[in-house]
Amino acid sequence: MLPSAPSRRAFVAGSAGACAAALCACTTYDARPAPPPAPAPAPPSQPDAAGAADALAGASDIPVGGGAVFPDRDVVVTQPTAGRFRAFSATCTHQGCAVGEVREGTIVCTCHGSRFAVEDGAVVEGPADAPLPERAIEVDGDQILLA
Ligand code: FES
Repeated sequence: MLPSAPSRRAFVAGSAGACAAALCACTTYDARPAPPPAPAPAPPSQPDAAGAADALAGASDIPVGGGAVFPDRDVVVTQPTAGRFRAFSATCTHQGCAVGEVREGTIVCTCHGSRFAVEDGAVVEGPADAPLPERAIEVDGDQILLA
């Protein structure tokens, strides 16, 4: 008789064991703790309990004929003429950059050079082709408030 070769039954049993081991090796469990949940987004500015609107700037901080950009509030406040304040979205209507500055009577988006009028947010120079949307504000003494 020939030296004993593995029997067919032993070969099948061995193969099944090897496959089971391979499957187990491919299954991993991540024992690391789950990452902490992302912090909740800050709630939008709300009037306080007394109903007061959100203070934005002092009126004296806004130059006559010019304005100031508040990028964290997505608003640009202008004062086209003494004591007359206007506010617009600070998001450029061209491709959504934040407008960068107020210069020479215009609100300037430095991404591609669009300029908007401090008077009404109208396009003075493209490529933007739509005005900046107006934002509601209130003037209370020397305070400019987001309505
Ligand atoms: S995004 Fe403002 S000019 Fe293009």
